[in-house]
Amino acid sequence: MRQSLIMGNWKMNGSRESAKSLATAIMAGLKEGDTGIAACVPYVYLADLQELTANSPLAVGAQNVADQESGAYTGEISSTMLKELGCEYALVGHSERRSYYGDTDESVATRFCEAQKNGVTPVLCIGETLEEREANKTFDVVNTQLDAVIEKAGIEALKNSVIAYEPVWAIGTGVTASDEQAQEVHKAIRERIAAKDQTIAESIQILYGGSMKPANAKGLLAMADIDGGLIGGASLDAESFLAIYQSV
Ligand code: 13P
Repeated sequence: MRQSLIMGNWKMNGSRESAKSLATAIMAGLKEGDTGIAACVPYVYLADLQELTANSPLAVGAQNVADQESGAYTGEISSTMLKELGCEYALVGHSERRSYYGDTDESVATRFCEAQKNGVTPVLCIGETLEEREANKTFDVVNTQLDAVIEKAGIEALKNSVIAYEPVWAIGTGVTASDEQAQEVHKAIRERIAAKDQTIAESIQILYGGSMKPANAKGLLAMADIDGGLIGGASLDAESFLAIYQSV
């Protein structure tokens, strides 16, 4: 049985004060022994949240990580720096990074390796655009994004990682993949991994992301290959985020 994981992605939202109050409100809804809940927050709030969440089940993650270890890379944040701030997770290859900031399959694979090297669990985001889905390219796109990481990092590296299937057309649009549409892709991802390593395929958490809300979470999370959610908009409201967590 895979442990579920409900992860918020706050994106570039909030202020120092609102980040602290959102985390406080989320923590207030959790009890000792809860697991499988995390928030990927803007870099600049990591230190505050490390302190705030120290004795809480709420884990903290970053939204990206550099593809280099250290040095003259202006504006980048390394995985050593993230680790020092108590980061358990780092998103890599979010579609907003791929489309607005030029992250490529290759750089995403390097970021994935960099995160792991310092004990930060990479959350590899993959997913197709609407045009790609309409052209029946969903599986090709997702496979190519996944294979780039497997080729670079090796299949064993997937052991300490999470995958998030986020169809680009469902992100921030209010349009969610149906339970069956999402399950179909999650199953294909798991099968692709299973072709290389059955044990890793059975244990890896594959999250769904894209307009997940309390109203649709239950159905999605009940699917056999959907192990959790990567939640944008609804993670900015403690009540909605907790409702999704509780619907697991
Ligand atoms: P929304 O939940 O706002 O659609 O965002 C999903 C997402 O991009 C999470 O990484």
